[in-house]
Amino acid sequence: MPLKILVGTQWGDEGKGRIVDLLSAQSDIVARYNGGDNAGHTVTVGDHTFKLHLIPSGIIHPHTMGILGNGLVINPKSLISEMEMLRETGIEVSPDRLKISFAAHLITPGHITLDRAREATLGKGLIGTTGRGIGPAYTDKVSRKGLRLVDMLDLPLFEEKLRLHLQKVNYDLAFYYQMAPLPEDSIVSEYVEYARQLQEYIVDTGALLDIALHEGKLVLAEGAQGMLLDIDHGSYPFVTSSNVTATGVFSGLGIGICPVENVIGATKAFQSRVGAGPFPTELDGEMAERLRGTGAKPWDEFGTTTGRPRRVGWLDGVLLRYARRINGLTDLVLTKMDVLSGLPEIKVCTAYKDKNGETFAVPPLGINHLDQYKPVFEILPGWQEDLTSVRNWDDLPENTRSYIRFVEQTSGVRVMLASVGPERSQVVEVPA
Ligand code: GDP
Ligand code: IMO
Ligand code: MG
Repeated sequence: MPLKILVGTQWGDEGKGRIVDLLSAQSDIVARYNGGDNAGHTVTVGDHTFKLHLIPSGIIHPHTMGILGNGLVINPKSLISEMEMLRETGIEVSPDRLKISFAAHLITPGHITLDRAREATLGKGLIGTTGRGIGPAYTDKVSRKGLRLVDMLDLPLFEEKLRLHLQKVNYDLAFYYQMAPLPEDSIVSEYVEYARQLQEYIVDTGALLDIALHEGKLVLAEGAQGMLLDIDHGSYPFVTSSNVTATGVFSGLGIGICPVENVIGATKAFQSRVGAGPFPTELDGEMAERLRGTGAKPWDEFGTTTGRPRRVGWLDGVLLRYARRINGLTDLVLTKMDVLSGLPEIKVCTAYKDKNGETFAVPPLGINHLDQYKPVFEILPGWQEDLTSVRNWDDLPENTRSYIRFVEQTSGVRVMLASVGPERSQVVEVPA
C-alpha cells in the first residue's frame, strides 16, 4: 500500500527531519498530521542546513507535494516566514506544491501569551513548553471555540471571530494573570493580511489524499514530536497537546483506515528530552556533557526550536518496546550512531526496578509513575572508530553492529537504517 508513517519513538528530536528527507526521494506527498511550530526538523543537504517547523521536510525534493493536515495548529506568521526562507534558498513554495487543510486550527498571539503566562504560574509543575501557544490552541479546538483556516476564506466573518477570540483572551489575561490586554486592532489587521496570503493554499486535504492514495501515489506521513509526548499515551501531564502516535495519522489527515506499508520509528541511539518530566535513564555530569555536546557542533543536543539544552541519557529499551506496541512499529531508523564513538562502554536500559526491588520488563501502568523506577542496564562494549564516513554494514565496527542487533532484540523491531552523521548521505543500510 502506498502509505508510510514516520513517527518519533522517544521525546522528540530523534532526527525525524533527516529521515523524512531520505524517504521523500520515493514519496509523492509528504504530510504533517499533528502539532505545530513547536516542532523543529533539521535536514542537511551538502553544506546547507534547513530547519523546518511547519512545512513537511519532504519539500526540499522538487517532486513532492507538502500537506499540512487538519490535525495541526498553525501559526500563520511562522508559516509565512518559513515559506519565504525556503523560497530564498531556491525551493518552490506555491499553491501547487503546498496544501493546507481548511480544518486545521490557527494559533494567535492570544494563544502564545496564554501559554507563556500559564507556564509562569506553574512553579514546580512547569511543563517546559516551547511557548508557541500549542496547548491553548488545542484547548480552544476541543472547547469548540477555535479559529480554523477555513475562517480565513471569509474575511468579514474572520475579523468578527478573531475579535471575539481576542476579547476572551484579554478577559482571561486580566482575570487570571493580571496582565495588560493584547492590542486587538493591530492583531486583526496583521491576521487579515496573513489570510490574504494563505487563502490560495487552503483546501480539503483529506479529499485530496483520498484520491492520491486510490491512484497509488506514495504518501509519507511525517510525525512531529515523539510518542512519549502524545496527549493520550505519553508521560502525562508532561506531554504536548496532540496525537503524536501513528494512529493519529488517520484522524490528523482526514483519511479512512487503510493498510500501511511501514510504520517507521525514528530512534536516537541514546535518549533525550527537552522540557520537564520523568526520565529514568537520565545522566548528569561528564557523561551527560559527552552525549549532549557543548553546542559547538550543529547537531549537539540543544533545541532546534527553542535553543534549550536537552536532557540526555542512555537508550531506554522499556520505552522503545512501549513505542512498538502503541504505534505498531514495523521498522526503526537508528540515528546519531556516530555520537557514541569513543565510549569505553554503552548502556541500554532493558527493564525497570521499583523501590521494593521488583523488576518489570513492562511496568504495570504503562509509562505512568516513570519517576518511581530505576533502570536496569545491560552494558555493551563501545567502539573507538569514527563512523562518519562509513556507508556499508560490513565496514561498521563489530561492536557497532552488535549494538544495532541488541536494539533490535530489545525492542522487537528490525532496524532498517542507521545514520552516522547529519548529512543526507551519512546512512548505512542494515541487512535483515
Ligand atoms: P527532529 O525534530 O526529530 O527532526 O530532530 P532535530 O532536527 O530537532 O534534531 C536532530 C539533530 O540531530 C539535528 O541537528 C540533526 O541534524 C542531527 N542529526 C540527525 N541524524 C544525525 C546523525 O546520524 N548524526 C549526527 N551527528 N547528527 C544527526
Ligand atoms: P520535534 O518535532 C522535542 C516538548 C516541549 C515540552 C512539551 C510540551 O522537533 O521532535 P508544547 O510547546 O508542545 O506544549 O510543549 O513537549 N516538545 C518537544 N520536544 N521535540 C519536539 O518536536 C517538541 N515539541 C514539543 O519541550 O516538554
Ligand atoms: Mg526537533
